[in-house]
Amino acid sequence: METVLSGVRPTGNLHLGNYFGAVKNFVKMQDEYKCFFFIADYHSLTTHPNPADLNNNVRQVIAEYLACGLDPEKSTIYVQSDLPETAELYLLLNMLAYKGELEKCTTFKDKIRKQEQNINAGLLTYPVLMASDILIHRAAQVPVGKDQEQHLEMTRNYAKRFNHLYNCDVLPEPDAFSFDGELIKIPGLDGNGKMGKSEGPNNAIYLVDEPSVLKKKVMKAKTDAGPTEPNSTKPEEIENLFQLMRIMSSKDTLNHFENAYNDCSIRYGDLKKQLAEDMENFVSPLREKIKDLAQNEEYISKVVKLGADKARASANETLKLVREAIGIRKFY
Ligand code: TRP
Repeated sequence: METVLSGVRPTGNLHLGNYFGAVKNFVKMQDEYKCFFFIADYHSLTTHPNPADLNNNVRQVIAEYLACGLDPEKSTIYVQSDLPETAELYLLLNMLAYKGELEKCTTFKDKIRKQEQNINAGLLTYPVLMASDILIHRAAQVPVGKDQEQHLEMTRNYAKRFNHLYNCDVLPEPDAFSFDGELIKIPGLDGNGKMGKSEGPNNAIYLVDEPSVLKKKVMKAKTDAGPTEPNSTKPEEIENLFQLMRIMSSKDTLNHFENAYNDCSIRYGDLKKQLAEDMENFVSPLREKIKDLAQNEEYISKVVKLGADKARASANETLKLVREAIGIRKFY
């Protein structure tokens, strides 16, 4: 089985966009690939989170992953900092990472603008740490969003450079995992673009949103004055609501509102109320599961320990080959 790996930074909660855009596919992949899923807590340190928040966020992401169906028996689910082998590989790969190319990286240039008071070396070498996450398990495929493609490209460069310098083929070059036609677009509630946490507080529905919060967000979604001519094309904000309905609601419900739109009798208040109800029905079992899991310290600790053990076994195989290639050989 091919190795697939993905990491998520423990910042905030999963929303429906994360669920349908990533996690749901991860759940399916577990049967077809050797999967590694980890919480990238080292990566989140670039912004100096407070320790209690960091710890809670890591626990929360684990609970959310598990609630969505990631299975610690099928996959290796671990916390990045439980695998210090990653940090060793990061040190070694840093010797092959050049200042010029790191400074050219788009995410770094973005960060310089956004946090000019804290341009630390961890930020500059963020792509090297990500490359280490991937290469430590010699992963073949990495499902990443558009914003991470450059990092994956850099990962391939480091692997190539390493193999070339040490005349070996220890580190395979990973490809972006392609979900082919399986990716569905999850629009946000603010009228344009996709659901995401950076687009404002009301744009995304989180798996942990309480019913009243969920309903309020949907009822506030942007709409227009309504169609004035039969069968007119929908403006983006309306099309977005219909797209959400396609995912969350029954065919009958969708047809009902499509017809109402087409004959101009639609009332957006009714559509939103129905959409909120259907979303609530989808989210509520997940929300309950997340709450239960996040409180179940014993289970979380069992899952994380199992993941750490499996991850370390895999990482140590890679590190042995890497050290040997470099010439770091034991004298004892
Ligand atoms: N950089 C990724 C993000 O911000 C998170 C991440 C860290 C990651 N290491 C990774 C993703 C390795 C895929 C593979 O979303």
